[in-house]
Amino acid sequence: MMDAAEVTRLKALMEWEGRRTAPPEGFPRLPDMPAARYTSPEYFALEREHVFRKSWLFAGHMDEVPEPGCWMRWHNAGDPIVIVHGMDGKVRAFHNTCRHRGAPVVTEDRGKSSRLMCGYHNWTYKTDGSLVGVPERRDFPEDFDLSCRGLLPVRCELFGKVIFVNFDENAIPLVDWLGPLAREWEEFAFDRIRLAARHSFDLNCNWKVAMEANMEVYHVPFIHPQTVAPLVDSTRNLNTMYPNGHARMLAPPPQQTDREHVRAIDSPPGWQQIETVGELGRTCTQSYTLFPNWVSPLSNYFVPPLVFWPTSLTTTRLELVTMALDWGDAPAPDLWTVPDASQPNGRQMSPIILEDTQFGEAIQHSMQSAAFRSVPLSYQEARIYAFHQSLDRMIGERNIPEHLRVEPVIGSDWIWPNDPRTAQMERERSAGRQTAK
Ligand code: FES
Ligand SMILES: [Fe+2]
Repeated sequence: MMDAAEVTRLKALMEWEGRRTAPPEGFPRLPDMPAARYTSPEYFALEREHVFRKSWLFAGHMDEVPEPGCWMRWHNAGDPIVIVHGMDGKVRAFHNTCRHRGAPVVTEDRGKSSRLMCGYHNWTYKTDGSLVGVPERRDFPEDFDLSCRGLLPVRCELFGKVIFVNFDENAIPLVDWLGPLAREWEEFAFDRIRLAARHSFDLNCNWKVAMEANMEVYHVPFIHPQTVAPLVDSTRNLNTMYPNGHARMLAPPPQQTDREHVRAIDSPPGWQQIETVGELGRTCTQSYTLFPNWVSPLSNYFVPPLVFWPTSLTTTRLELVTMALDWGDAPAPDLWTVPDASQPNGRQMSPIILEDTQFGEAIQHSMQSAAFRSVPLSYQEARIYAFHQSLDRMIGERNIPEHLRVEPVIGSDWIWPNDPRTAQMERERSAGRQTAK
């Protein structure tokens, strides 16, 4: 939860962002980022190996494995895994790879059973992963130890009802990874929201090209003049960068906004409001990047993450998820997709998502050209720069060829809880009082 003083400070800072005539004092000049970060197979391999193997990743929602014995397959980050709601009530993840000769243990997307049995030779595992059944046991050596041949675990932790996994067995706990977000997200009722919609779409661009369209508001007036622009005053946007690469944008609606339009988008009929959401969540747009690949504008109606999965250097699977409080008899909320009978899964991306993704393929194509040299970012795009710094930190600077690195110029003095803008705003305020006297 955010306390009243923090809400007041953030509101004042949004107004201050609207007034400033230059980047904040002392904000580092952002060096151009190397173009090859979007086009080089070498950098892509480093991201796969380090970023997606060591970060906490969104895997699903408890509604997908609601009862003991329920399991689901998941392979968005490469290795096939199975997420299991254990007979003991605990949710775990395992590599979906049989310890005998490597067959997949489950072969359907979802299922329910008190044991997991590999179909090849019927090796059988309990829902805690332990190996309990080997047919023709007599043909293996007498001292063949089943206890060390259980399914290999993948770290799996919950934030409320949302399931995250991490391939790094030494990773810090999820709640520490989230850091201050865990507290700020309390008001969004992650422990009560249900999974309302989850669809995925394949895009023809690097995952960062797709993701970064959701990490700055600079594009809003140009790409979204009819849809997002009436909701978000990009000039009063306030970015906050957190430890571990996470970030938040916070922007009020424009002063001259069309209230009817806002209501049509923000107050869907019949859907329950999350009553604990505070003033900023109700009146502003706030969107959180959860490093590395989740972006979600949290509001008093939805927790709707967009999740970006690299499928190759130049292709991305975009998952569009809506979570909300129980919707009763109303149609299930789906913020990001609309019915479309011409599509294979009967859904199409919503107008806002189409606006954001429409140029992805052309951008990627154009980036592959020799004319794409480097990327200069503005202060308003600093979340993107900080994200790239975090990618490099995760990969380990010494693992990255120099021509592919970004210079880590955004120091901890600009990372939460530090924020030099507050002091600058106070100074300007008292200077303003002086001149007024
Ligand atoms: S590969 Fe699974 S039982 Fe043989
Ligand atoms: Fe956008």
